[in-house]
Amino acid sequence: MSKFIVLLPGDGIGVEVVGEAKKIIDYLSERYKMDIRTGTYLVGGASLDNCNEPVKDEVVEACLKADAVLLGAVGGPKWDDYPADKRPEKALLRLRKELGLYNNLRPVTVFDSLKDASPLRPEVVNGVDLLVVRELTGGLYFGQPKGIIEEDGVQVGVDTMRYSVPEIERIARAAFDAALVRRKKVTSVDKANILASSQLWRKTVERIAGEYPDVTLEHMLVDNCAMQLIRNPSQFDVILTENMFGDILSDEAAMLTGSIGMLPSASLGDGPGMYEPVHGSAPDIAGQNIANPLATLASVALMFRYSLDHEQAARDLESAISHVLDDGYNCKDMSRHARKVLSTSAMGDQVLKTLKQIHTPA
Ligand code: IPM
Ligand code: MG
Repeated sequence: MSKFIVLLPGDGIGVEVVGEAKKIIDYLSERYKMDIRTGTYLVGGASLDNCNEPVKDEVVEACLKADAVLLGAVGGPKWDDYPADKRPEKALLRLRKELGLYNNLRPVTVFDSLKDASPLRPEVVNGVDLLVVRELTGGLYFGQPKGIIEEDGVQVGVDTMRYSVPEIERIARAAFDAALVRRKKVTSVDKANILASSQLWRKTVERIAGEYPDVTLEHMLVDNCAMQLIRNPSQFDVILTENMFGDILSDEAAMLTGSIGMLPSASLGDGPGMYEPVHGSAPDIAGQNIANPLATLASVALMFRYSLDHEQAARDLESAISHVLDDGYNCKDMSRHARKVLSTSAMGDQVLKTLKQIHTPA
């Protein structure tokens, strides 16, 4: 059965890292006879330059029809002064909304070989293996009313934090389901001491927890969670949280690994999933063949797992990545912790070479 993957390289280093991902996708397709075809489309600043739209309708339609979408990154200084509806990030929000990608999974794993790369002491990050489950289509990012309005001759900026019970229920189930195949603990993060949306969140999550007797639920206020992530990160298994808290906490959690260049993500809904590295377009290093493609390659592994239904391919790729790290290879962002520093394309080739040597038992 053939599969179709939309590639959206986007801006900055997105182009380079998605280029490496394509090499791996093509190889895995051949190895497992999956007949995967890919199509590349413009998104973000690249699309703005081309047609003055952050993402064209036909690109959204292609994504809706695909089996999965792989996105590099969007944005850059060139488009920073564009009006709100013409910003590259708008493309991302539109895709998330139209594809119904409410469930954003951001796994944070500290590789044994990279314990020293963290700004925290190795004994603090040792064994960290957590998953941020971030609600992705609600909350402050999308709530109405929203905008800059004029009140009595004064400008007022308005965003609305808003969550309905069904929105909370479905993301809570996603988190509990994820916990079932992990260490069976969910930490639901909110600001229930202040926010009404958080009070409803807490009550709803508590009720859904009743469907999962094997999973332990705890609640944590977001400010405390920010502190606990630094103080004792290995206490966490699954962190369940709303859109903006998840945005902030996942960047913080990423640094436990030493570089945001290593973190993959999957955004899931009822249709095709979208996969992207957590890092941005890094315009300062774009076009130099030095960006770290590992987050994107790890996102490809998630794509094989969740959208292409091929756990074996996902595991092979994940073990190839960890072998490469164990062998002392890394990119410039991690050069202090690498014995051999590779360019973007050399890293792609190294992962590919290692992957080819992994023989899965039939
Ligand atoms: C992320 C990014 C996006 C977000 C931006 C680029 C809109 O920071 O995916 O974490 O805030 O969701
Ligand atoms: Mg972010």
